Amino acid sequence: MITIKTQAEIEKMHAAGRVVENTLALLGKNVKAGVTTEALNKLAHDFIVSSGAIPSFLGYNGYPKSVCISVNDEVVHGIPSGRKLKDGDIVSCDVGAILDGFHGDAARTFLVGEVDEATKRLVKVTRECFYKALEYCREGYRISDISIAVQKHAEAHGYGVVRDLVGHGIGTHMHEDPEVPNFYSPRSRQRLQAGMTIAIEPMINLGTERVWQLEDGWTVTTQDGKPSAHYENTVAITKGDPILMTCSEVCP
Ligand code: MF3
Ligand code: CO
Repeated sequence: MITIKTQAEIEKMHAAGRVVENTLALLGKNVKAGVTTEALNKLAHDFIVSSGAIPSFLGYNGYPKSVCISVNDEVVHGIPSGRKLKDGDIVSCDVGAILDGFHGDAARTFLVGEVDEATKRLVKVTRECFYKALEYCREGYRISDISIAVQKHAEAHGYGVVRDLVGHGIGTHMHEDPEVPNFYSPRSRQRLQAGMTIAIEPMINLGTERVWQLEDGWTVTTQDGKPSAHYENTVAITKGDPILMTCSEVCP
């Protein structure tokens, strides 16, 4: 069931989204060679809590940390650890926060030092995929129009679009209906309507779309070992332009 949010509820989600936005900005400033992913987790956790919010990932289905940090061939759900970032890495940071009962959810892929051209392009195009999708975040379009926009842009570059994970509705729960796939699905016929709030999150691979789930129960990696990028924002559909809940105007 898709829940329609009131304007007051959308404002609450926007406040949660700002905590997520600021957490990601803090992570972006601290992503550099030599830093451990656990140090980034702690920074993010402390910042979210000091903002009066709750890190929504912590304890979610038993997830052990406050953010997900996925390096290089890790697609999503990387668990922060003693792993040290190094020059040339790409680092996907996924952050969720609950404020006043409402969720915000967003992700960015950051570069460490000098990253090779092909991988840099992957990161740039993954962000562009979100913006292509945003053009369809208006009443009257279908969820599948969002999916097609992401898929078309990624595949035009020869990239693999991950099939095993999808974006989602969001509100008082992190994951609500509808599913928001990054590829065409005939099931995604729902029409967008003012008051719908969704997390659009392209997960795009330089090589094959195929992924593995690691034995830690969380980390998802590419099957061919090539890099993967992730970019996500929480978006509210309105009678007019969509509202970006997890960034101001143009998202980094
Ligand atoms: N941001 C992720 C999503 O959109 C959630 C991370 S899974 C968790 O599904 F367990 F870490 F919460
Ligand atoms: Co999400």
